[in-house]
Amino acid sequence: MLKSLLVLSILISRILSFAFDLNKTVECNIRYYFYHGSMVTAYNVSNFASLFNHSKFYRDKPTTFYIYGTMEGIWVPTVIAVKDAYLANGKQNFVIVGNLNPFLHVFINAPVIADKFSTNMIQFIRAGYDMSKVTFVSFSLGSKSIAPLTSRLIRKKSGGRLRLQRIVALDPGIIKDEELYLVGGRKLNEDDAKFVMTVHTDCHYWGTKESHGHVNFWVNGGCDQPMCHNDFTKSICNHIKAPLYWAEAVRSDSKKSFKSRQCTSYKCYLKKDCDLSLPVAYISLYTPSYTRGNYYVRTKKVAPYSRS
Ligand SMILES: *[C@@H]1O[C@H](CO)[C@@H](O)[C@H](O)[C@H]1NC(C)=O
Ligand SMILES: *[C@@H]1O[C@H](CO)[C@@H](O)[C@H](O)[C@H]1NC(C)=O
Ligand SMILES: *[C@@H]1O[C@H](CO)[C@@H](O)[C@H](O)[C@H]1NC(C)=O
Repeated sequence: MLKSLLVLSILISRILSFAFDLNKTVECNIRYYFYHGSMVTAYNVSNFASLFNHSKFYRDKPTTFYIYGTMEGIWVPTVIAVKDAYLANGKQNFVIVGNLNPFLHVFINAPVIADKFSTNMIQFIRAGYDMSKVTFVSFSLGSKSIAPLTSRLIRKKSGGRLRLQRIVALDPGIIKDEELYLVGGRKLNEDDAKFVMTVHTDCHYWGTKESHGHVNFWVNGGCDQPMCHNDFTKSICNHIKAPLYWAEAVRSDSKKSFKSRQCTSYKCYLKKDCDLSLPVAYISLYTPSYTRGNYYVRTKKVAPYSRS
């Protein structure tokens, strides 16, 4: 059902593009929502850099940019869960990257969004912010297309001087790798930031079985989440668990949430047939940037999901 909505939205944007300049429309609809306390300040592509001067923006703290998925918006429950978790955590500035119009936040428009977002990021760094404090956290379309495209463009436009520190890609997916050429993209990979970490929850439909990052966490095997029913909602239920698990990790502020093990496969992990001499890792804000490999973890069926 959602996939047909996706196709519909692409058709609508294609049809609209005959009527008027779609690139301009997408550009005008990009919004950066900066959350401070119970307030939100929305910036557009013209005034984004002045976020640096906002009285509630902490210049010495890290900043997370959350790039949500296809046709999502700031009213979507998973987006709210992530936002509330960052506000409760309170140790960073938090900005959501999105679109006023959800029908424009689709993969076919990702190159325009990435083009504007990368230019805005460079302006923001020129205003005085420290690039090494920037993290992109992205979900779905954000992970598969907007975050990697933006990251590459920041590097290119800055002549290689600016490089993203960290990407946390939540269930990167929706677009099949062989469809990425449509938007001139490559898949998310280890070049896209100094540290790329992925959290996989739905390998069947919305996500992927492929490894994209320096470290990949396969939660409950990365395919089937134990609280999702075996019906038509299953795949989307699996998929949206990635931001919900992440929200829990952020809210807890623990260095030891979702304790995960390296193993040959999830089957071996369940049989406890793993090389126990290998280091464990955690899905957390503090996952060290030297972490490498494929990690497996099981969760509980109800929140709090982490067993550790
Ligand atoms: C951005 O917002 C400012 C302030 O509300 C407005 O003056 C400006 O026209 C907007 N620019 C775009 C491109 O929407
Ligand atoms: C921030 O404020 C200073 C002082 O008012 C101003 O010179 C500068 O242009 C502002 N920066 C941005 C990005 O708006
Ligand atoms: C729209 O933007 C994309 C990406 O920036 C670009 O490749 C394309 O040529 C643009 N199309 C038009 C009609 O300007």
